[in-house]
Parts: sequence; C-alpha cells; structure tokens
Amino acid sequence: ISLKPYNTFGIDVKAKYFAEIKNEQDLEELFMSREAKEEKLLILGGGSNMLFTQDFKGLVVKMAIEGISYALNGNVVELIAGAGVVWNDLVMFCVTNNFAGLENLTLIPGTVGASPIQNIGAYGVELKDAFKQCRVFEIATGRFLTFSYEDCKFGYRDSVFKNEYKGKYIVTSVTFNLSTEAHLKTHYGAINAELEAQQITKPTIADVSKVVAKIRVSKLPDPTTIGNAGSFFKNPVISKTQFNQLIVNFPDVVHFDVPDDQVKIAAGWLIEQCGFKGITDGHTGTWKNQALVLVNHGNATGQEVYNFSEKIITEVYTKFGVCLEREVNVF
Ligand code: EPU
Repeated sequence: ISLKPYNTFGIDVKAKYFAEIKNEQDLEELFMSREAKEEKLLILGGGSNMLFTQDFKGLVVKMAIEGISYALNGNVVELIAGAGVVWNDLVMFCVTNNFAGLENLTLIPGTVGASPIQNIGAYGVELKDAFKQCRVFEIATGRFLTFSYEDCKFGYRDSVFKNEYKGKYIVTSVTFNLSTEAHLKTHYGAINAELEAQQITKPTIADVSKVVAKIRVSKLPDPTTIGNAGSFFKNPVISKTQFNQLIVNFPDVVHFDVPDDQVKIAAGWLIEQCGFKGITDGHTGTWKNQALVLVNHGNATGQEVYNFSEKIITEVYTKFGVCLEREVNVF
C-alpha cells in the first residue's frame, strides 16, 4: 500500500502491512497477530510530522478511533476525544460549544492521538496546558493504562513518548480540561497585532481561533496543496553563555528567554540568514513566508528532502555554531 495519502509531505513510499484501527478491540485483535508481534511498527495519526525516506518494511497502524464526549462540572469541561479525531475538528467543536483552552491551537494538522507525543503548541499555548490524561495501549502486555499529566513529562515539543517510552505505547484517547469561562491567551505578538488591526477589544474564543487561523494561513503552506510537515526543525535552545557570544556577532538574532538560564533562538531566522528562505532545491525547498518549513514542490523523494535538511543544518552550524535538531520524525 502506498503511504502517499497518509503523510502530509506527500512522499510516495510503500508499507509492507497496513492496519486501520477504529476502536480498542481492533487494537487488541491486531496485537494477537503474527505481523504485530514480529514486524517493525509505525503508529500513524495524521502523518503530519513524518518524513519517509524509504519504503516501510513493517506494519503501519493507522489510528482512526473517532468520538468526542464531555461532561460539565460548573465551569469545568472534561472532554474526551478519540485518537483518530482530526485535531482541528476537535478545536472547531470546542469553539462552537464555547469551550476555552484549545483555540490557540487552531489549524494545527494531525490527530488527537498524536498531540501529546510531541506536546503540540502554537501562539503561546501548548497541548499540556489543557491536558488532563490519556489512555494508552501497552504493546508489550496488551493492557490499557491511563497516563496522567505528570506521567507524560511534557517539554517543548517533547514527552515521555519520545524518550523512555518510545515505541512502547499507543495513545487511544486524550482527556482535556477545558473551561466554559474564556481565559484567553492573546499575549503572543502576532495575535495581539491582528486583534488590534481588526479593532477587537474584547475577543471571544471564536475571535482568537479566527485570528490564529488567519496568521497560520498567511505564514504556512496548506499541506493539501503543497506537501509539508510544518516546522521541520525545533527552535534551538542554547545556554546564556553561548547566546552572549552569538549576540556579539549577530545583534539582531531573534530570541526568547526560557527557564534555566537558557535562550530559545528562532530557527526560521537562522535559516533565513543563511539565504535559504523561499528557495527551491530540486523538488524541495523552503516556504516563501516561513523558512522553517520545508516543502515538497511535487514528486520530491524523502531522501531529497532529507539531504536538503542536512545542507541547512550544515550551513546554520557553520555560520552560527548552533545545531538545528529536526522536529519531524524521519523514517
Ligand atoms: N523568522 C524569520 N524568518 C523566517 C521565519 C521566522 O526571521 O523565515 C523569525 C521572525 O522574527 C518571527 C520569529 O522567527 O517573528 C518566530 O516565527 P514564528 O512566529 O513563525 O514562529 P516559529 O518560532 O518559527 C513556532 C512553532 C510553530 C508555531 C509557531 C507559532 C516550533 C518549531 N515551531 O514557529 O509550530 O506555529 O511558533 O507559535 O516551535 C510546528 O511545530 O510544526 C509549528 C508550525
């Protein structure tokens, strides 16, 4: 089976085996099969954070568990969404029902099940800010367990599922803590500027969602028309000491202070400074409005995109001494 429809980069590789999971029983049954026990596994949500560089000689498990339900308790909304729910469908469901918490995460590609893995985030909010717990399938034992907020050890684009529990669990649903009272987070520069431009002084949940959508559409390519996986690299976090040296030679470096005496550098800025913004390299390149996003101009192979990303890493390191780390998963 071709994985082209299952990855937003639109890379045409094949999987040896493919299974679609519609409920928890499907998962239990699948993991009694020889393929699931012996083959290499790849758990797939929306495929929006993946770069395939070759055929996948194993079993791809596409998570398609649907369903959204919630319970109200005063102002608190406890909402459960299936792993296969499209992330933005969940956000729109919340906006329509006036449940606050996810509006800044409007239009992020991918699915609910993938959201805790890398603690998705945008415009001043991260998944962890609304996360209560998730239900997971333990591959080794076939049991279902619940992981609390603490269990997940969330960090910047990071969680326990990318580290010590990598490849050991499959998220089947996520429970969120939302609120019927809007505690809107509009401090992110671009949101504030857009609200002001539209003369919105008392924004609603829907206003914030619309503004975020507008900003994203203006900066990021639509994966249904041009293959991409959002930010290709993470914003590098460096020590204050290294930063103080960097800023001597590059006084304009775009940066944000983060805890523990560290500084986060805008990777898009570093890449742009190396002359990579909006360029085309064979079938691949960087997006014209956001150098951090690598794109497939059509028919790019995963290897081509990967080689281009290596070129960027080398140039950025040579110029700034800063090492870029990929945010997308490379297979
Ligand atoms: N910049 C440039 N040139 C560029 C791109 C960015 O100079 O080509 C500078 C600008 O100064 C800009 C700053 O970098 O103000 C920050 O850019 P932007 O607001 O677009 O955010 P980002 O840091 O590049 C991160 C996330 C995005 C998220 C946005 C908004 C990462 C790796 N990426 O990007 O997440 O949407 O912030 O919060 O943290 C994703 O993870 O796939 C993703 C799209």
